[in-house]
Amino acid sequence: MSDRRISGFKPTGPLQLGNYVGAIRPVVDGQDQPTIVFVADLHAMTVPGDPQRLRELSLQVAGLLLASGVDPRRTILYRQSDLPAHAELHYLLECVATYGEAHRMIQFKEKGGGSGTRLSLLTYPVLMAADILLHDIAEVPVGRDQRQHVELTRDLAMRFNERHGPVFTVPRATHPAIAARLADLADPAVKMGKTNASSNGVLFLLDPPDVLRRKIMRAVTDTAGEVAYDPENRPGVSNLLELLAVATGDDPRRIASGHTGYGALKRATADAVIALLEPIQRRYHALSEDDIEQVLAAGAERAAERADATVARTKAAMGLSSARPARAGSPATPETVPASR
Ligand code: TYM
Repeated sequence: MSDRRISGFKPTGPLQLGNYVGAIRPVVDGQDQPTIVFVADLHAMTVPGDPQRLRELSLQVAGLLLASGVDPRRTILYRQSDLPAHAELHYLLECVATYGEAHRMIQFKEKGGGSGTRLSLLTYPVLMAADILLHDIAEVPVGRDQRQHVELTRDLAMRFNERHGPVFTVPRATHPAIAARLADLADPAVKMGKTNASSNGVLFLLDPPDVLRRKIMRAVTDTAGEVAYDPENRPGVSNLLELLAVATGDDPRRIASGHTGYGALKRATADAVIALLEPIQRRYHALSEDDIEQVLAAGAERAAERADATVARTKAAMGLSSARPARAGSPATPETVPASR
């Protein structure tokens, strides 16, 4: 039974604190289990972007993952486009997923719709399923916004296994207990995101301390005046409390009881976030592009063996090769891997 974990990060913009608390930190904290982390550059192409910027952001994302504590001696870190198996399994799973399923995904509803929308934005959750199913994954540590995609992955894996035999491990999503959906500081109704319309409420991991402080001091709260943890009715203050809690390892309710005014809460949050990000920024700036490229190349090489074996197993189960189908988790053997691979 697999205990492997995977998480991916889309280089559509600079990483922000929601990425850190929702996924990077849980990934880093759990590296005693076999862990795979990748830069989801193919996913970034579902919306318009510039090739040079994509290249730069991919390296920046990888560098920030390393600076945040992803340990390449234990964890496999690679760039998705370096592993052709992602695109291959994606197509095979497109023959299992339905149009209705893809169309119901929230992210397509939010960002897609018009006739100029890229087709890849519709099918991207199926690519995400391929990312996960390639590696016999048990656990997917992600923010809450990705839950629906992991549910789709589970549905596709189970449907495939029913139809073609037990090829895939069925994964489950895990979320952090607090800040599984960190909100934008300027608009607590929306999640903090790399590509939000305004960056006023988004704390980027590479923001200088004075910028972090300014954004936090201007965070939207409410007129109630008293500090209380109530995410439903007091989203702005509760978001600050969650932010301070994750930055200090404390509990939002306990922090609330120790604060009386919004000003002091914001100052404490700013101090804690700056202290949290300072060592990450320092480690990031000490990395060279070559360091990062080397880690990515070695990671892709390590990831390829299992991924290629999964593709071979999937093809065999679907009747695409003369090999006999094999079970999930079984090693690649000469009988299950076609000679050409
Ligand atoms: P992406 O790049 O949008 O976000 C990367 C991770 O950060 C989490 N996250 C948040 N968590 C809490 N609060 C927030 N405000 C916040 N914003 C982002 C996301 O939930 C995610 O875990 N489709 C994925 C990338 C992906 C992937 C995968 C992830 C592709 N294939 C396979 C896991 C497994 C995405 O767009 O994440």
